Amino acid sequence: QKLKLSLEQIEKGGYEHFMLKEIFEQPKSVHDTMRGRLLVDEGVIKMAGIWDHVERFKNANRIIIIACGTSWHAGLIGEYLIEEYARIPVEVEYASEFRYRNPIITDKDVVIAISQSGETADTMAALKLAKEKGAFIYGICNVVDSSIARITDAGSYTHAGPEIGVASTKAFTAQLTILTLIAFKLGKHNGTLGNAEFMSLIAELDAIPKRIEEVLSSTHEQIQQISKDFVETTNFLYLGRGYNYPAALEGALKLKEISYIHAEGYPAAEMKHGPIALIDENMPIVIIAPKKGHYDKIVSNVQEIKARKGKIIAVVNKGDRQVSEMADYVIEIPETSECFSPIVASVPLQLLAYYIAVYRGANVDQPRNLAKSVTVE
Ligand code: G6P
Repeated sequence: QKLKLSLEQIEKGGYEHFMLKEIFEQPKSVHDTMRGRLLVDEGVIKMAGIWDHVERFKNANRIIIIACGTSWHAGLIGEYLIEEYARIPVEVEYASEFRYRNPIITDKDVVIAISQSGETADTMAALKLAKEKGAFIYGICNVVDSSIARITDAGSYTHAGPEIGVASTKAFTAQLTILTLIAFKLGKHNGTLGNAEFMSLIAELDAIPKRIEEVLSSTHEQIQQISKDFVETTNFLYLGRGYNYPAALEGALKLKEISYIHAEGYPAAEMKHGPIALIDENMPIVIIAPKKGHYDKIVSNVQEIKARKGKIIAVVNKGDRQVSEMADYVIEIPETSECFSPIVASVPLQLLAYYIAVYRGANVDQPRNLAKSVTVE
C-alpha cells in the first residue's frame, strides 16, 4: 500500500492531483500534438490521414462528427472550424442519439469520431452503423491502438499522453488542436482559406502553447483565490458566443463533473429564452468575452446580467475595459484569433472547476459515479 502510494505521488510529478498536472501539461501536449504536423517555415500542415483521402473530404456531402462528453464539445468547435475555413457542411451528434435514430448516411459522407479513450461504447456502435452504410470513417483518438482507432479508415492521434483524471482536460485541447489542423489543411486544399491567412493562422497556432503557458502562470493564483468565494454555491451559468459557446458548455461540464455543483452552459444570446429567469445576486455567471468574437453583443448580454445583479466572472483579453468594468471578477487571457480562443479560454475554466472542487473536498481525480472510459451504453 505504501509503495503504491509513493508510486502514485511520483506519477503526479509533485502535483496534488492528476487533473492539475494534466492542466499544467497543456503547453506540452498541444505542442506534441502539432509536432511533425505543423511545419510553419515551409507553410505546410502534414497529416497523412487527411492527405491520403483529401478528395473524399473535399467531395463529401457533409462531415458528421460523432462523440460523447467532452469530446462532443470538441466536435462542436470542430464544426465552427471546418465550416469557417474549409466550407464543408458539418453536423455534430451525440453518438448515443445518432446510433438509435435511423440517421441518413451515404457513402458520400465522412464521419469523424472523436474519443480520448477510443473505447466509448456508444461512439463505437455509432461508427459501426456509419461504416455499414458506406461512410468514410476518420478517428481522432488519444489512446493508440484503441478499439475506435482500429475500426476507422484513417485518423490522427492526439499526442496528449496518458490522461488519468476522469475529467478530461489536456485531451480536450489536443482534440481542438487536431481539428484546427484539419480545418486549415482542408481549407488550404479547397482554396477556401487563402495563402496569406493560412500562413498567419499557422504562425499563430504554433505559438498557442506559449499562450497557454502565459495563461497558466498569470491566472493560477488568482483563480485559487476566486474559487474560495464559490465553495458554497449551488448553481452556475457559463455563457459564450460563437467558438466560445462550446467552450462555455465544456466549462460547465468540468464544474459539474468534479465539484457536483449544478452548472449550465448556454450560448449567451439564448440567455433571454430561459436562464435569465434564474439570475439574481446568488447566481454566478462565467462569461467568456474575448475581443474577437461578437464582443459588442457580449457586452449587452453582460449589461442584462448586471441589471439583475448576477455575479459576473469574466474571461476577457488583457486590457479589456467594457466587460471588466461590469464584472465582479476579471480573468485575463491573451488576445488570439477567434478560432483559437476556446483553447486559451478553457484553461482558466479548468482551473476554476478544479479549485472549487478541491475546496469542497471532492475527489477530483475520481469523481463519484463517473468513469474515465465508458465501455457500456
Ligand atoms: C466519459 C469521461 C469523459 C469523456 C467521455 C467521452 O464520460 O468521463 O471525460 O469526455 O466519457 O469519452 P471519450 O474517451 O470517448 O472521449
